[in-house]
Amino acid sequence: MKIYHTTKRLQEILHVTPIETSIGFIPTMGALHEGHISLVERALKENTVVVVSIFVNPTQFDNEGDLSKYPRTLEEDSKLLSQTSQDIIIFAPTPAEVYGTAIKSKKYDFGKLANEMEGKHRKGHFDGVGTVLNHLFRIIEPDRAYFGEKDFQQLQIVKKLVVLENLPVTIVGCPILRETDGLAMSSRNKRLTVEQRENAVFISEILKITQQQFQEKTIEELTQFAENTFAENKHLDLEYFEIANIKNLKTAKKKKEGKKYRAFIAAFAGEVRLIDNLALN
Ligand code: PAF
Repeated sequence: MKIYHTTKRLQEILHVTPIETSIGFIPTMGALHEGHISLVERALKENTVVVVSIFVNPTQFDNEGDLSKYPRTLEEDSKLLSQTSQDIIIFAPTPAEVYGTAIKSKKYDFGKLANEMEGKHRKGHFDGVGTVLNHLFRIIEPDRAYFGEKDFQQLQIVKKLVVLENLPVTIVGCPILRETDGLAMSSRNKRLTVEQRENAVFISEILKITQQQFQEKTIEELTQFAENTFAENKHLDLEYFEIANIKNLKTAKKKKEGKKYRAFIAAFAGEVRLIDNLALN
């Protein structure tokens, strides 16, 4: 397994590989867990070369504290990846390697998609995600790039990004991996205290109940139930609960025949912001 910190060295390696090579790419911000490893395993099956980037992208954080506290665990991440396969290439650049001297976001028009949920609550977040991925896709030139459905809205934004930037990469969405109690795997889970960790499971439990009751209850009833139940939980602070049409991620007011819906939650456990979502039908 090799770790590269500069674009030049990485590209030297990627460019000497034979022409029939296909590159699978997993962009990450590190603090890797089994969810990331499931993306890596899929990429290993479908490509001849697999690149994992580990880069905490400053432009996608709207909160300095969140950026500075984001876990940085390159040594453990490398160990976990080397246990998965010795053939993985890690790209762990500095901000200057990715951005040059201007560490700032490009302004994208992702349409209405960017104004819902995460876009509404984290100003500039998707411009930051789009900008860093545009840089990374141009550096690595992957055939396929793999993203988890935990960030379901991000996955839709990335699909739009590759159209806007005309990038020749296939975006592959992969299912959410969960802890045994149901909590969606996330790098941020490492920051939870024991008490917060115990309570965080509440997020996936509410999603499960919403899924079970989706046929017989109205969207308004389900939303009311979720919001009221969160209000009673002292350990979690609900930012949003939304049921949305999976096509455009617009908040749904009423169920419509033939449409597919997902429920989405963002909630704070102390300072740690957690998100999750679940297909309802
Ligand atoms: O999902 C993430 O970890 C990040 O948003 C990504 C895609 C690596 C871009 O920084």
